[in-house]
Amino acid sequence: MSGINKKAKKRDIAIIGTGYVGLITGVCFASLGHNIICVDKDKNKIALLNNGQIPIYEPGLDKILKKHRKNILFTTDSKKAIEESGIIFIAVNTPTGKRGEIDMKYFKAAIREIATQIEEYKIIVNKSTVPVGTGEWVQKEIKKYYQGNFSVVSNPEFLREGSALKDFLKPDRIIIGAEDNKSKKIMLEIYSKIEAPLLVVDIKSAELIKYAANAFLATKISFINEIANLCEKINGDVVKVAEGIGLDKRIGPKFLNAGIGYGGSCFPKDVRGLDSIGKEYKYNFNIIKAVMLVNQKQQERFVRKIKKILNKIKGNRIGVWGLSFKPNTDDVRKSPAIAIIKELQKNINYKIQAYDPIAIENAKKEIPFKNIKYSKNAYEAAKNADILILITDWSEFSKINMQRVKKSMRQYYILDGRNQLNPENIKKLGFYYEGIGRK
Ligand SMILES: NC(=O)c1ccc[n+]([C@@H]2O[C@H](COP(=O)([O-])OP(=O)(O)OC[C@H]3O[C@@H](n4cnc5c(N)ncnc54)[C@H](O)[C@@H]3O)[C@@H](O)[C@H]2O)c1
Repeated sequence: MSGINKKAKKRDIAIIGTGYVGLITGVCFASLGHNIICVDKDKNKIALLNNGQIPIYEPGLDKILKKHRKNILFTTDSKKAIEESGIIFIAVNTPTGKRGEIDMKYFKAAIREIATQIEEYKIIVNKSTVPVGTGEWVQKEIKKYYQGNFSVVSNPEFLREGSALKDFLKPDRIIIGAEDNKSKKIMLEIYSKIEAPLLVVDIKSAELIKYAANAFLATKISFINEIANLCEKINGDVVKVAEGIGLDKRIGPKFLNAGIGYGGSCFPKDVRGLDSIGKEYKYNFNIIKAVMLVNQKQQERFVRKIKKILNKIKGNRIGVWGLSFKPNTDDVRKSPAIAIIKELQKNINYKIQAYDPIAIENAKKEIPFKNIKYSKNAYEAAKNADILILITDWSEFSKINMQRVKKSMRQYYILDGRNQLNPENIKKLGFYYEGIGRK
């Protein structure tokens, strides 16, 4: 692979942006035998990595990185990375802008760095989630500075934080948007050791696949949440309804867990992103707008339930279990927990005591330090609480001794935002239990 051109002798692949996606991509490609150079403009991140520390929490990442460390160079020097490698992956952040648009400033800056430093054939691979038409823009932008030969490829990433290594190395599919034979051949070669369906499509379709996949999954979540809300009115059980519809092979059982809505760095951003792509092409995405509205209302509904109970029982101390946007990650970006806690903090009489196995430090950066304290464990968060709210379904919450929890609480109310606990067992212990859409 390193023979892709004359100068790129040292490394096969450069990765610009060493965040969740860039780091996992780098480490996984290294484990497949490729020589990798990972770049980030964040000096602290690179210093940590060069010091043997990992800036994010991802199960198994420390072990695999240690094992393949010799195949990876971490640096802040993008010039060196561009010069030494034949394939350049871009994995920088593409957040939501002020008006809901996809903010491309980091991506554009990365492309400009490549455009002004490229001196011979390279394959530039967009792994960041970027709007439809970005591949075309990259072509034009690079041509402004460099008149030689190069290829642009779209290779969207579908990994999920918390199971990212498995998702990268054993994915459901690999999507490659490539429009010339040379880049197609090389992309197939770098993924050749991964066994997965591989779909080669045009660049625009590849770009859209990423948004469409995330928006479809978010639609499933909002749909089942609406069914759950109806269950609460008819006294039905959404868990049973989901099982019943999920047995239909055309629907399938996954992503039908009712709760307090989706969060994280991808779903909210990508659903909004698809709506803004629609707008750009003068297409009104009705379904996407409904998905976003339902998701927002689902969190508001949960907060209303908490307030209603506290009002009724004249309580003010709230135990919170879970802060990350989902289990097995320390990522709190757009976590429902953050939004819910911020809303509760508006009532200065409430006392919040929150616990998360991994994400407390990240949560502290997002949540204002007023009427909240962070607990060392789940028991401490429940101590003297009037109500316990479960927001993130970390597996450790299923193993908690609920009898011990009950003894330490002031009043025995549980709101389970993820339908994680067993209602029958919890009620038998004398708790008032409410899930989402449960009987
Ligand atoms: N996190 C996920 O689960 C996930 C999954 C699939 C796709 N994606 C997409 O992948 C992209 C990256 O997401 P992430 O979660 O890894 O973001 P992140 O914020 O964790 O990491 C991005 C990194 O890029 C660095 N960076 C920005 N501009 C740079 C530049 N010019 N040169 C060098 N480094 C630069 C930042 O310092 C940061 O470390 C986004 O487009 C996201 O939508 C994310």
